[in-house]
Amino acid sequence: MFEQLEQYLKYPELFETTENVFWRDEHISKKLLEIHLDPNDDLASRKPEFIGRSATWIQTVIPPKRYRNLLDIGCGPGLYAERFARAGYSVTGIDFSSRSIEYARSVSNERNLAIAYVCEDYLDMTIEGVFDAAVLIYCDYGALSADNRKRVMKNVFSRLRSGGRFLLDVCSRNQYDAFTESQTWEVQDGGFWSAERYYCLSANRKYRENTTLNQVLVSTREGNRAYYIWNHCFTKEDLISEAEAAGFHALAVFGDIAGTPYTEDSMTIAILLEKP
Ligand SMILES: C[S@@+](CC[C@H](N)C(=O)[O-])C[C@H]1O[C@@H](n2cnc3c(N)ncnc32)[C@H](O)[C@@H]1O
Repeated sequence: MFEQLEQYLKYPELFETTENVFWRDEHISKKLLEIHLDPNDDLASRKPEFIGRSATWIQTVIPPKRYRNLLDIGCGPGLYAERFARAGYSVTGIDFSSRSIEYARSVSNERNLAIAYVCEDYLDMTIEGVFDAAVLIYCDYGALSADNRKRVMKNVFSRLRSGGRFLLDVCSRNQYDAFTESQTWEVQDGGFWSAERYYCLSANRKYRENTTLNQVLVSTREGNRAYYIWNHCFTKEDLISEAEAAGFHALAVFGDIAGTPYTEDSMTIAILLEKP
């Protein structure tokens, strides 16, 4: 028992992964969908007021008349995609959570919206076609290792037309500074991590290189599962240089993905990129 805990709760290597992907877990994805759709919870998607404001602002920097074919990467249950379709974009949404994609499809069919939903991993994108623009919303880019961030940039770059735009947001270095290390445990008779009774040991760990980890060990009668939720935080300069290394031209940065001006105190950074 002691040895097992030592093994599970050690500091993993930077961006080490486990075999457990919480977005795709049968039980957890059900809970996550509820959270995406809960207007008072911004754990999985931001709240409706923000999403509405953000989707309206995006139309000013990526106007649908000039950037009709829009790729929504990590679209979740389609909260943005639906707004984009209503604004006149022809939307393709990609997500690897079949739970979210099935929900998104049912909503777009019911409401007669022109959205193509694809269930696949955006690190291994297979979808074909040339897009006018792409978005990756709610700081998912920072959940990826440097190598995987390069893969996403490459996947998007190769699918955009020349002059096409890519908009994404990340957590700023201020979030890293505000992050504190902590350790907690809880016991639940069924809840977020499992339908069965479970113990959850959770550690917030701060790494050098502007990266944080939420390390979670879930223990049920069936066994133990570990989850690593990484987040890389960026300075404006780091983000611009990463995008430019991928071939993009950085047009502008903002304090969030609703167009708030960027300042030294911004907790997020949104960047608008263009393929030359
Ligand atoms: C924080 S949520 C944001 C959802 C949506 N963009 C929004 O703002 O409402 C991140 C989404 O990315 C998806 N995701 C994470 N990693 C992915 C990957 N490698 N391939 C495809 N989808 C992924 C998750 O399933 C989840 O729906």
